[in-house]
Amino acid sequence: MKNRTSEKSINKLTIQLFVSHAMRYKRFTIPLLIGVLFAVITMNYVQPYIQAIILQRISEGAFDSNNLLGSFKWELIWYSLAVVGSGIIGWRLNIWLIWMLEMKVLRDIATRVFNHLVSLDANFHANRFGGSLVSQTNKLVGSYIRFADATIFNLYTLVISMIATLVILGPKAPVYAVSLVGLSILYIIGTIYFSKAVREANREQAEQESRQTGQLADSVTNIMAIKSFAAEDYESKRYWKEATKTKHATHKSMVATTYRELFSSTLTSIIGIGALFIAVLGTKYYGADIATLFLIVSYTGVIGQRLWEFQNVLRQFNRALGDASDMVKILQIEPNIKDPEQPEESQIRGGKIEFKNITFAHAGSEKPLFSGMNLRIKPGEKIGLVGRSGSGKTSLTSLLLRFSDIQKGQILIDGQDIRSITQHDLRSHITYVPQEPLLFHRSLAENIAYSRPDASMQEIEAIAKMAHAHEFISELEEGYDTLVGERGVKLSGGQRQRVAIARSMLKNAPILVLDEATSALDSESENLIQDALWKLMEHRTAIVIAHRLSTIQQMDRIIVMDKGKIIEEGSHRDLIHRNGAYAKLWAKQSGGFIDE
Ligand SMILES: Nc1ncnc2c1ncn2[C@@H]1O[C@H](COP(=O)(O)OP(=O)(O)O)[C@@H](O)[C@H]1O
Ligand SMILES: [Mg+2]
Repeated sequence: MKNRTSEKSINKLTIQLFVSHAMRYKRFTIPLLIGVLFAVITMNYVQPYIQAIILQRISEGAFDSNNLLGSFKWELIWYSLAVVGSGIIGWRLNIWLIWMLEMKVLRDIATRVFNHLVSLDANFHANRFGGSLVSQTNKLVGSYIRFADATIFNLYTLVISMIATLVILGPKAPVYAVSLVGLSILYIIGTIYFSKAVREANREQAEQESRQTGQLADSVTNIMAIKSFAAEDYESKRYWKEATKTKHATHKSMVATTYRELFSSTLTSIIGIGALFIAVLGTKYYGADIATLFLIVSYTGVIGQRLWEFQNVLRQFNRALGDASDMVKILQIEPNIKDPEQPEESQIRGGKIEFKNITFAHAGSEKPLFSGMNLRIKPGEKIGLVGRSGSGKTSLTSLLLRFSDIQKGQILIDGQDIRSITQHDLRSHITYVPQEPLLFHRSLAENIAYSRPDASMQEIEAIAKMAHAHEFISELEEGYDTLVGERGVKLSGGQRQRVAIARSMLKNAPILVLDEATSALDSESENLIQDALWKLMEHRTAIVIAHRLSTIQQMDRIIVMDKGKIIEEGSHRDLIHRNGAYAKLWAKQSGGFIDE
């Protein structure tokens, strides 16, 4: 996984991401750009301009004191139009437009992140805290609003103001215009320079906050482990350390911010005082009139305010870029498991499986778990997979599902390389019941129907009866509508397993993989659903990994694995006769569990 991209290029990517998403809605962005231009010009430039004309005329005595309204008729009309146009129409419209735009872009970015996270492989997710992914997603989405608001309402308005001032006052008071632009540029460069340190500090702060949140999520999710090890104090100290690091990081960013503000306020003061000096001196040297003096003072006020807000632009940008960077980095990660560019149509029918000379090492481990391993499974064959914990049973099945890719060799289903079809196609032909049944925080009915969302309530109930889940579900007050988990019912390990088994029974796939799917059941309930499982295996190729050897005694073939190798295979009877590893396990277990 390559995620070593420099901070600069991450910022560039973030801006590209934001801009490209915003530009999908040109019907909002373009009216918005025009609307803001209109509002700024009418409010900050046209209004003072009309006031200046009135002042000029008054100072020259160019009006009829008996008919004041008549003399200033046009000025009054235009001024009123400008006020109404900018305030009531301009800004309201702009704010409405930016809301419309942001709502759409937020939805798009959130969905894009969601799809990306879902597309990344198990390996990626195994190395992340779900909690920090959630907070990074929220931060990215939030940072878009900051970015858009600052760009449109601060940066864009600053640019408009600078150009408008130059155009209007350039010809009348060139010295003023040139000095104002010069100082503004100095201000902008200086602020950017001082903001570098702020940005760096903010990024560190964001990363540290993310670590702290991750730690909190990790501890809360594993609360029972903490309690059972009486590790509250240990966890609390660990968390305190993270929180202290966050405090230090916040302090650093506060110091850097203070330096920048000091620079900014000094320069805006100079600009404000300087403008009045030039305006006053200008009246003598350039023969400037009272209108120009008034415009110099009010336009400087506008620029001064925009420049002061420019700090805010940078602050918002820094914050936005800092907040976005974690998730933008993740968005750059390409999934390790990719669909072929031109996928073949899947040929999976009977479910013949061949592992041909496969070599595979888990990411990060040097020694391959499997090297040159071969295994052929006939269509409809029922395979029992046994072996000590860590011998590679789960890994073998996850290779079949392409949760990871092999480094050498081939895995074929019905003669077709599993890498030549889409993952969706592959997995829709395999029913997989993992060791840890994962249930969503949704209703029991939804959980069961997850493998076939169009299943009717009758079908769901019939399947639940077969999996012996119906008994406990029908005793719940809300039955199949009961929510699972956090806001709903807490299920025992065995109950979860039965729901998971019902779910897989509903899926109609030619290959079935059960990874210790019955290990959380007690012997009694396992016996109960043994029938159902046999029914499930009918007409299907099945790979069943089991702790309890009695579970797989009846299988066509039992494969015994050790350290990534097949050390024995044959029927239960053969293997007992052979008196090898399996026979020893069997003797030891005498119907109980494999000794680990
Ligand atoms: N995601 C992983 N990353 C690195 N090593 C792994 C991963 N999953 C399993 N392993 C290692 O691979 C070996 C086989 O594990 P596994 O297939 O889970 O065995 P089993 O299911 O037989 O208990 C073990 O040594 C285990 O530590
Ligand atoms: Mg396992």
